[in-house]
Parts: sequence; C-alpha cells; structure tokens
Amino acid sequence: MSANQSPAGQQQTGTHDSAFLRACRREPVPHTPVWFMRQAGRSLPEYRKVREGIPMLDSCMRPELVTEITLQPVRRHNVDAAIYYSDIVVPLKAIGIDLDIKPGVGPVIADPIRSRADLAQLRDLTPEDVWYVTEAIGLLTAELGPTPLIGFAGAPFTLASYLVEGGPSRNHEHTKALMYGDPQLWADLLDRLAEITSAFLKVQIEAGASAVQLFDSWVGALAPADYRRSVMPASAKVFRAVESYGVPRIHFGVGTGELLGLMGEAGADVVGVDWRVPLDEAARRVGPGKALQGNFDPAILFSTPEAIEVKAREVLDAAAGLEGHVFNLGHGVPPTTDPDALTRLVEYVHTQTAR
Ligand code: CP3
Repeated sequence: MSANQSPAGQQQTGTHDSAFLRACRREPVPHTPVWFMRQAGRSLPEYRKVREGIPMLDSCMRPELVTEITLQPVRRHNVDAAIYYSDIVVPLKAIGIDLDIKPGVGPVIADPIRSRADLAQLRDLTPEDVWYVTEAIGLLTAELGPTPLIGFAGAPFTLASYLVEGGPSRNHEHTKALMYGDPQLWADLLDRLAEITSAFLKVQIEAGASAVQLFDSWVGALAPADYRRSVMPASAKVFRAVESYGVPRIHFGVGTGELLGLMGEAGADVVGVDWRVPLDEAARRVGPGKALQGNFDPAILFSTPEAIEVKAREVLDAAAGLEGHVFNLGHGVPPTTDPDALTRLVEYVHTQTAR
C-alpha cells in the first residue's frame, strides 16, 4: 500500500468527518471534541474487573482484552475518540528488552542502557513483533464505527529516560549525565529509539489508527536549548516518518510551557498543553497553523461539580480564538478519579460548545 492511500480504518464512514479529526485539522466542528489521556484504566471499575489477576504487560498482548479495555471509556463517557490501550514500554518489551511494569511504580528495566555496548539491546522493531497490536486495531476499528482511534508511542527522550535510569525518576540524573557527558552516544541512542518508535507508529496507522500521539511526558525537565540540540532531531525524525500518511500527529508533554514552540516545530499538527499555561498564551507560543489539545487540571476532578464546570468554562474561554481545540486534561486521568465526574465533564463541554 502506498503511504497516501487510506489505511483500512481510515475508510470507516464518518470517521474522517468526526469532530475530533476536524478539530485536529483546524476545520469547523459541530462541538469541541473531548477525550482524556488514561481514559481507559484504573479509574473504571469495569477495567479493574477485567484486569484482575492479569499483569499489566500481559494485558497489552491480548487483542480481545485490549479491545474491551479501549472501548470501555467510549461506552461510558461518550468521548469523541478512543485511545489504544497499551503502555509506552510495549515496543521495547517487544524487541526483547528485559523490563517489567511494577504496580504502583511503573516501568522497571533490568539492565539500564548507559554504554555504547548497551545500545546493542535496541534492535529494529518489525510488525511481527507486535502482531497483537495489528490484530487489536483491526477488531477496534470494526467496533468503533465512526469514532476515531488514536494510536500512540513514547517519544525518544521519555523512553530513553526509563532505559537509562532503569525506572521512573524525578530528576533524570543518569539521563542528563549521558546527554551532556557523551553527546554522540546520546544522539545514537535517541536515533535508535526514533527508528523503533517510527516503526511502531506505522504499524498502528497501517492497521487503522486515525491519529497518533507522541508522549514526551518527562521532557519538561529540559531547558529549551538542550531540547533543541539533544531531543528535537529525534522527535522530528518520528514525525517525518509518519507524515505521508496524512493522519494528525499530536505532541504531548508535561511542564513544557517553555518548550511549546519547539514541540510544534518538531512536526506536530496538534500540540498538547498542560494546565500551567492558559490555551490563549499557549497559542501565542506555538504560533499559527497548529491545533492545541488540553488543558484541564486533572486534580480539579476531585473538586465539586460546580468548581469543575467553572474551570472547564475557563478552558473553553481561553480556547475561543484557537484555530482548532481538542479538550483534554493537562495529563492523564488520576487512578482514583470518580468516573462520573468525567462523564459530566464531557457532557458539559459538548453542550457548551454545540454549534
Ligand atoms: O490506569 C492505568 O494507568 C492503567 C494501566 C497502566 C498503564 N501503564 C497504561 C498506560 C499502568 C499501571 C501503567 C504503568 C505505568 N507506565 C505507569 C504508572 C505507574 C503507576 O502505577 O502509577 C507509568 C508512569 C508508565 C510509563 C508511561 N506509560 C508513561 C510516562 C506514559 C505516557 C503517558 C503519561 O501518563 O504521561 C504511558 C502511557 C500509558 N500507559 C497509557 C496507558 C493507558 C497511555 C495512553 C493513554 O493516555 O491512555
């Protein structure tokens, strides 16, 4: 299949004209589309039930289970897009990296990557390595009808931070030590990860994902000059690798107020914004020609229904002049969120913005 032909899932009647894809393309929308990072997951009792006794990474490799978990929040909340249920470390596991996801901790890597010899652990990813992704996306696009499916991957920096630290990290000391201490090894590591990430996103688009999001969750730890020099080339390579498919590319990170312009420049069509920068100011930083996604503070989901509406209204007001706006949280749904608060928030945004 040539890259400018529509992959299977793209041909679903109505998907192309969905509010979500229209907003990503900065076209007029019937209402502001809403989805939530981590909408599938621990906040939902039906998720906790189907996951019982099944380790996190195992759950990502069972196509029927992935399909069910991905659909759960779509059924419950009436969101405008589904996000493929997986984790950013799944492609690393698939190429044989010895890692596990420890409950309450996150990804833990058995042999951290800190030397040139360690790079050999990172072989190319083939579609066969992630056959369950292709199968699950086939099942999903059939079930979702016109609702778009978002594929995703971890960005090279955020993946590198887990691989180099060996697990979650607050200050990314080992990662920065490598980045500054051996710039060539760092560049080669990020380039390897860009290749793997590109291959993984291509698998998802070819199987029918209608948009992709690159999660650079922890890149807000960097100053702009370091981002430009040491990270942007690899992220830009990923965006270029999937450009010809014509599906919207979303670029997200946390604490990235000072990086928003560069994250757009890396090749995104939609830039994700957390709650620290209002969307009108974010639009000035990103510049014209891109849609924005965000930026409701997830902590406010624990407040009263009235306070949630006031805050949602603020987000919508700040978004009023944007070329395109996808309503989302500034980061993922916290595991202890009351799911009804999410359902009500979707309903509120839809009714407030109905045109
Ligand atoms: O509710 C859930 O979180 C369900 C299951 C789960 C996922 N990952 C799914 C996931 C669990 C327990 C994990 C482990 C994990 N992996 C954690 C959490 C540790 C914990 O127990 O609190 C973390 C931080 C990771 C690493 C990771 N995975 C990052 C940094 C990201 C990018 C998004 C972000 O939160 O910054 C992911 C992606 C991820 N893991 C998604 C899902 C469903 C992303 C897609 C989505 O937004 O739904």
